[in-house]
Amino acid sequence: MWGGRFASGPDAIMTEINASIDVDRRLYAQDIAASKAHAAMLAKQGIISRDDGAKIAHGLDTILSEIESGRFRFKRALEDIHMNVEARLADLIGPAAGRLHTARSRNDQVATDFRLWVRDAIDAIDRGLAGYQRALAETALAHAATVMPGFTHLQTAQPVTFGHHLLAYVEMAARDRGRFADARKRLNENPLGSAALAGTSFRLDRTLTSRLLGFDRPTANSLDAVSDRDFVIETLAAASITAMHLSRFAEEIVIWCSPLAGLLRLSDRFTTGSSIMPQKRNPDAAELVRAKTGRIFAALQGLLVVMKGLPLAYQKDMQEDKESAMEALAALTLCIAAMTGMVRDMKPDVARMREAAGAGYATATDLADWLVRTLKMPFREAHHVTGRIVAAAEKAGVALEALPLAAMRAVEPRITRKVYDVLSPERSVRSRVTHGGTAPANVTRAAKAWLKRLGARR
Ligand code: ARG
Repeated sequence: MWGGRFASGPDAIMTEINASIDVDRRLYAQDIAASKAHAAMLAKQGIISRDDGAKIAHGLDTILSEIESGRFRFKRALEDIHMNVEARLADLIGPAAGRLHTARSRNDQVATDFRLWVRDAIDAIDRGLAGYQRALAETALAHAATVMPGFTHLQTAQPVTFGHHLLAYVEMAARDRGRFADARKRLNENPLGSAALAGTSFRLDRTLTSRLLGFDRPTANSLDAVSDRDFVIETLAAASITAMHLSRFAEEIVIWCSPLAGLLRLSDRFTTGSSIMPQKRNPDAAELVRAKTGRIFAALQGLLVVMKGLPLAYQKDMQEDKESAMEALAALTLCIAAMTGMVRDMKPDVARMREAAGAGYATATDLADWLVRTLKMPFREAHHVTGRIVAAAEKAGVALEALPLAAMRAVEPRITRKVYDVLSPERSVRSRVTHGGTAPANVTRAAKAWLKRLGARR
């Protein structure tokens, strides 16, 4: 394709390091779509004949079906997807194929193809995240009043509801979707027509190719257009933050499923057994979601490093943008599906959650608040008094709600029987009615609002 002035072919090692076809063959659909748009525009502008334009379009359709049916023979000697497609086009339609590359370079071609590919990946991830949110919100609605211990420092802190905990992840996923949507907006400009780096002398209609490919507008600067990979980096940044969120939840699932906690059970569908210990039920899917975060972060870091020293415009280094990005986005898609599956599969042990929520003096804050509200005690003093009552309960080996009134009065004589109203985990969560608080009524309202926003579709 470019060998006109070359006397001999490349060394085998040169071919080996140079070829990207094993990776960029996955851009075939985008490459063909972009070529069809380019050819249609060239024909409309009178840069190539209508007849050649039609031959090219027809040939490209044939190639698409050859690739999709597995009949296409990819050749490493042809380096990449662009040259594989063009060479096959020449086989199919003859000399007219040579007109397709008018006013185009592989530099604007690959930038266009990969933008289209990343855009599709973003759309698929967004659909996945919406399904994940729906699974979370449905489970949250079912467990709006299921009491569980809330933790800080992994120490029992205050009772919360399981539904409230799940809705926290719905919020995270909403921000994740916002970041992908944001990246998509900036991504959606058309590099085609920037040619190698300087634009071209042909009178192109870049607005037409933009419209044909679903781009909002043509890119404004040809040098920037062929050397920019921000759209991949931003998407990987959004993917990294999403993966970090999924990993946190995966970690919680692992902890909750441990017999030490016993708060949750996953079925056989999302656990594996041990080859030596027959009693085991390992949360492998959650562990792997946690682990795959590593390669997703690595893809972001890797591409930042590839790009950081590159002068304008295109450099071959940029060919290294695809492999780990594609792999990372595929890993993320799989992680989202696995988390969605686990959310739909998980069975909280409601009795164990209730028991754990009542243990560890989780309602101590409720007692302190009662002292403030009823006895008009300054909070700092109430905190101290409560501490002494907790110590008394600990010494007696009972929960706060089981400590006799006399024992409380020994610490603070003005305490009345009324105090028991606030000491159960159910009362505790029911009282947390502030906007965004864990009260079951809030959780029900928020879960329903999310389900309405997300639509009923599964
Ligand atoms: N395979 C190349 C890539 O992925 C296509 C662009 C090649 N451009 C060039 N001037 N060699 O980046």
